[in-house]
Amino acid sequence: MSNDSGSSTIPTPIIKAMGPAGGPSIQRDAQKANLPASAIRRMNLNECPYPPSPKAIAAMQAACAVVNYYPDPKWRDLVAALAARTGFAENRIIIGNGSDEAIVQAGRVALMPGDEVIAPVPSFPGYYKCREVNGGALVPVKVREDGANDVDAMLAAVTDRTRIVFCATPNNPTGAMITAAEVERLATGLPDTVLLVLDEAYHEFGMHAGGEDLLPAMAKRTGPWVVFRTFSKAYGLAGIRVGYVLCGSDEMAESFQKVRSVFNVNAVGQAGALAALDDMEHVQGILDATAQERGRIVEGLKKLGFDPFPTVGNFVTAKGPNPAADVVGALEERGIMISRLMAPGYENYIRVTVARPEDTDALLAALSEIMG
Ligand SMILES: Cc1ncc(COP(=O)(O)O)c(C=O)c1O
Repeated sequence: MSNDSGSSTIPTPIIKAMGPAGGPSIQRDAQKANLPASAIRRMNLNECPYPPSPKAIAAMQAACAVVNYYPDPKWRDLVAALAARTGFAENRIIIGNGSDEAIVQAGRVALMPGDEVIAPVPSFPGYYKCREVNGGALVPVKVREDGANDVDAMLAAVTDRTRIVFCATPNNPTGAMITAAEVERLATGLPDTVLLVLDEAYHEFGMHAGGEDLLPAMAKRTGPWVVFRTFSKAYGLAGIRVGYVLCGSDEMAESFQKVRSVFNVNAVGQAGALAALDDMEHVQGILDATAQERGRIVEGLKKLGFDPFPTVGNFVTAKGPNPAADVVGALEERGIMISRLMAPGYENYIRVTVARPEDTDALLAALSEIMG
């Protein structure tokens, strides 16, 4: 059945103007490589290759027994644990269906059609979707040579239409961090008419690599601000979709509350995240293993003629001698999924997620074959 009149007024012009909806599919990748999904080496989505804490698994299993009931719409237990961990007041912590949900919601909170969104390039595609879906205009700011967000260029790009500045540290896909002094420069230099979003999806990896606590620098801001974090990476819980927002004011927290759906985070996810917070030894093990393998990948790529960014994330992005699309395709045929940068000017850049030691071995062996 269809009624393609070609002249509908629904969806809105903003939605019509968006590119096609996308998203990765391991099943499709497996089909292409002619392998079962379990045989695919997932080095393309910055996932954690290790299962979450056994405590989290047990808590999620227990939560499954009562999913006939709706989850806590206020996520009280998880919020209390995060308040104790971060020092934020409970009413200033918002839980999201992954931090991805919160990124799009930032636009619902702050943008009117035509408003400007400053975002680093290359960086996480969620920022670009945030501005697209909310009718904003993107003002891209190229990252520095070392791959870190360019705070001075971001400040220089502000106009009286700017409503959101996204800052990612460590930045995905480049992996570089900025200092607390740089965050403070941004926090105090942006006008109060701008929502400053600090995306710390890879916060735990940054701290493990010697990074600074950036919350005190953010707290110096008089205007609106939020910090996004997630359980998807260092906690190994990408599949349950839990992220959180630390809000700089009561008004900002209330605004994020207003734009979300009531039961946005499921009961199994809430239970898993809460229990995971109680097992930092497990997280430490993941961070140690990641640092070890990241070093091996960086060294291995260098020997094969790639030029990697200095990264502290659970991923390595490197410039190669050949078009990245060819490298990605050749690895895909061998069941190894990596990704490439889509931003113009980065055609030769691959991004590899740090996975298990045997994945590093397989990747480097396949690459040395391909690079010949
Ligand atoms: C920089 C950055 N922010 C946010 C996210 C979204 O993470 P999630 O929605 O799983 O919390 C990602 C995921 O890769 C990311 O790289």
